[in-house]
Amino acid sequence: MTELNHLITDGRSHKEFSHTPIPESLIHQLWELTALAPTANNSCPLRVVFAHSADAMEHLAKAAHGYNADRVKTAPAAAILAYDLKFYDQFKVLAPHMSQPPAHASWPPERVERMALMNANIQAGFFILTARSLGLDCGPMGGLRRMPLHRIFGQTGGLTSPSCFWGAGQADALYPRAPRPSFDTACRIV
Ligand SMILES: Cc1cc2nc3c(=O)[nH]c(=O)nc-3n(C[C@H](O)[C@H](O)[C@H](O)COP(=O)(O)O)c2cc1C
Repeated sequence: MTELNHLITDGRSHKEFSHTPIPESLIHQLWELTALAPTANNSCPLRVVFAHSADAMEHLAKAAHGYNADRVKTAPAAAILAYDLKFYDQFKVLAPHMSQPPAHASWPPERVERMALMNANIQAGFFILTARSLGLDCGPMGGLRRMPLHRIFGQTGGLTSPSCFWGAGQADALYPRAPRPSFDTACRIV
């Protein structure tokens, strides 16, 4: 239960962080665990650019919309989450049981993008929970302008929402938790 509290019940989307640095080894561990998320065909379309240097974080703050910029400035590190539209090129390794070349290569672009986005977002959810389990707080953020991100960090495929800032969160900067839909609003048992 304590673990569940840490991961979910008390896990919040943080807006401010302490400047405690993140060791690079932790970033590698974060990826190794995130990579175990389930995805359709084991497609694993998520690609991540980790902003770790002060310079990279400063550039990232410039790409943030409005008040998001101040939030970015407090974080010691961030992950720019993206999806690879050519994810199926990895199937030789990730899904060797599939026939090659995979059918995905001839799908309409919207269908490829839908699959990439859906599965990358599942991986993004795992990313947040994994970061929390490693003792890092997260601040997911969609309010970043894409063009500066691409200019600074290179093409990463399509950008997913959210990018994710993380470090030790400042709990006293949080608003009270907003309500969530009740079971009756969001669910049915048939
Ligand atoms: C896709 C996505 C985009 C978000 N974009 C922003 C953002 O641009 N700025 C911000 O302050 N918070 C952003 N958030 C944080 C949400 O507001 C937060 O997750 C939600 O209010 C729930 O807060 P809680 O996790 O603390 O309960 C984003 C979260 C997600 C998942």
